[in-house]
Amino acid sequence: MLHHTQKSTGVIARRQASVLLAKDPVELENAYNDWAKTYDLLHMDTKQQLDGVDLSKGMLEQSRKRRLYRNLIKADFTRSNCIPNSYDAVHASAVFAPGQAPPSTFDEFWLLIKTNGHAVFTIRCGYYDSDEGRQHKEHLESMIKENKWKLISKTKQDYLPKDDVFAYVFVLKKILS
Ligand SMILES: C[S@@+](CC[C@H](N)C(=O)[O-])C[C@H]1O[C@@H](n2cnc3c(N)ncnc32)[C@H](O)[C@@H]1O
Repeated sequence: MLHHTQKSTGVIARRQASVLLAKDPVELENAYNDWAKTYDLLHMDTKQQLDGVDLSKGMLEQSRKRRLYRNLIKADFTRSNCIPNSYDAVHASAVFAPGQAPPSTFDEFWLLIKTNGHAVFTIRCGYYDSDEGRQHKEHLESMIKENKWKLISKTKQDYLPKDDVFAYVFVLKKILS
C-alpha cells in the first residue's frame, strides 16, 4: 500500500467544525449522527490517496471492493518498475516470504519513496531469524549500515496468535537520496 500526503476537503472541514462546536453530548451525538450518513463517501477523497500494488489480479479485485484505493497496480516486486521518489510512505504486510517479494524489494521501496519518507512492513520472526530468511535479513541490514535506511523500530508482535506465530513490524526512514 502506498501513501500520498493526505488533505482534508472543505466539506470534511465543515463537518469537523460542526463536531467541535457542539455544546453538549446531545449536540455532539447529533452532529456525528448526521456525519455518519455520508462519512465513508466524504472520506473517500482522502482514502483514495492510497495506491495498492500486488502481483495477483484476484487480490487486487478483493482490494477494489474495499474502496480504499485511488489506484490498484498489478506489478511484480521481482522486477524493477517503480517511479523513483513518488510516494511519502510504503506499507507492506505478509509479502516477504520464501519465493515471494525478494530482498531487492527493499531497494524498490527505497527508490519509490521520497527522502525522509517511511516504509512499514511485517516479516514473520520464524522466517526472518532462520537460515531461510538470511538473504532478506542481510540485505536489509546492509542498507541500514549504508545509511540508506534509518531503523526507527523493529517490534515483535502477535501475527497469527491462534497459531502462536509472531512477526516483526519494521519502521524505516529513508535517509540518503
Ligand atoms: C499472504 S498475502 C498478503 C496480502 C496482504 N498484503 C495482506 O496483508 O493481507 C501475500 C501477497 O503478496 C503478493 N506477492 C507475493 N509475491 C509478490 C511479488 N513478487 N510481487 C508483488 N506481489 C507479490 C501476493 O500476490 C499476495 O497478495
